[in-house]
Amino acid sequence: MIAPALLMPDISVLPMESPQRIILAPMEGLTDPPMRRLLTDIGRYDWCVSEFIRVTDQLLPPHVIYGAVPELYHGGCTASQTPVHVQFLGHDAHVLADNAAQAAQLGAPAIDLNFGCPAKTVNRHRGGAVLLDEPEHIYNIVYAVRQSVPAHIPVSAKIRLGYLTDAPLLDNAHAVCQAGAQWLTIHARTKADAYRPPAYWDKILPVVQQLPNLTVIANGEIWTPQDAQTCMTASGCQDIMLGRGAVTRPDLVRRLRGQSALSWAALLRYQLAFLQIESKTDAGLIGRYKQWLGMLTAGYPEAQTLWQTAKKAQRLDELQQLLGAQLAFVGI
Ligand SMILES: Cc1cc2nc3c(=O)[nH]c(=O)nc-3n(C[C@H](O)[C@H](O)[C@H](O)COP(=O)(O)O)c2cc1C
Repeated sequence: MIAPALLMPDISVLPMESPQRIILAPMEGLTDPPMRRLLTDIGRYDWCVSEFIRVTDQLLPPHVIYGAVPELYHGGCTASQTPVHVQFLGHDAHVLADNAAQAAQLGAPAIDLNFGCPAKTVNRHRGGAVLLDEPEHIYNIVYAVRQSVPAHIPVSAKIRLGYLTDAPLLDNAHAVCQAGAQWLTIHARTKADAYRPPAYWDKILPVVQQLPNLTVIANGEIWTPQDAQTCMTASGCQDIMLGRGAVTRPDLVRRLRGQSALSWAALLRYQLAFLQIESKTDAGLIGRYKQWLGMLTAGYPEAQTLWQTAKKAQRLDELQQLLGAQLAFVGI
């Protein structure tokens, strides 16, 4: 058998038409619609996944789905025409199926099911990662959703390696596959690992080997092109999902596709554009921008000075002025 490492392309120089898919991760409170729009403007993602929409015991009114995924008003895509898959989280297979069918009617390009959320409240109500100890239940949910959604709309699942240990990984992957999902994203950590590095990319490899017909997407701890390469080699996956790395280095996806990195000056212009997105209240946008700028300090040392001043700003116009001044300073 050929070692998986030998099959992996060097993605640091992947051409635009490469079959490899790069996906923007769902991140509740982070990759909201303005951030999805911005990040998909900066670099080409194959698709993004919405923040999770929690389903308990009823069919959600359409305005809730539209509120979480306003892209549905525009064909289910961001401004750059990147599809946004609608993610649901819950435990009741039938209610999830009804909600997924409704989202499909509203124009969802695909449905994703969240079995990775580590939040205590969610897990206490038998949603998210706690279901990883119940592969049969995962099968029932994915199957019910697959049956309820028209065949041309893909259904996928996102899991972690397991809840406390990675023991149920293969059972869960088989369950998702047998239930008819089109692909499976694996965040290469258990719920118990939370978000602590490392991500155990190599634990994904047996899934790829045992389920050759299922597309498996590797996720977790990809911050640089080198990480992406190592992840692909270790996991045997060609397709990857970028989470926090995509926010701290918004040009990561560009560099993975062999395009130029973004200078700090170019990123400043995107930050200014972000502050002009109208889909949020000023307070919401200010909060989200500050959160992002704080994260950018990890990827761009130049962000430090701006961050020190910007975190005290209370108004949108103050932030816009600060950014304008920075742009003038860097000579744009
Ligand atoms: C703030 C935050 C919110 C998240 N929200 C979701 C979510 O709504 N749905 C989901 O499936 N995963 C969610 N995740 C998990 C991410 O999609 C991803 O699996 C995880 O961050 C690992 O990737 P990374 O190491 O590249 O960040 C969230 C992660 C973070 C940090």
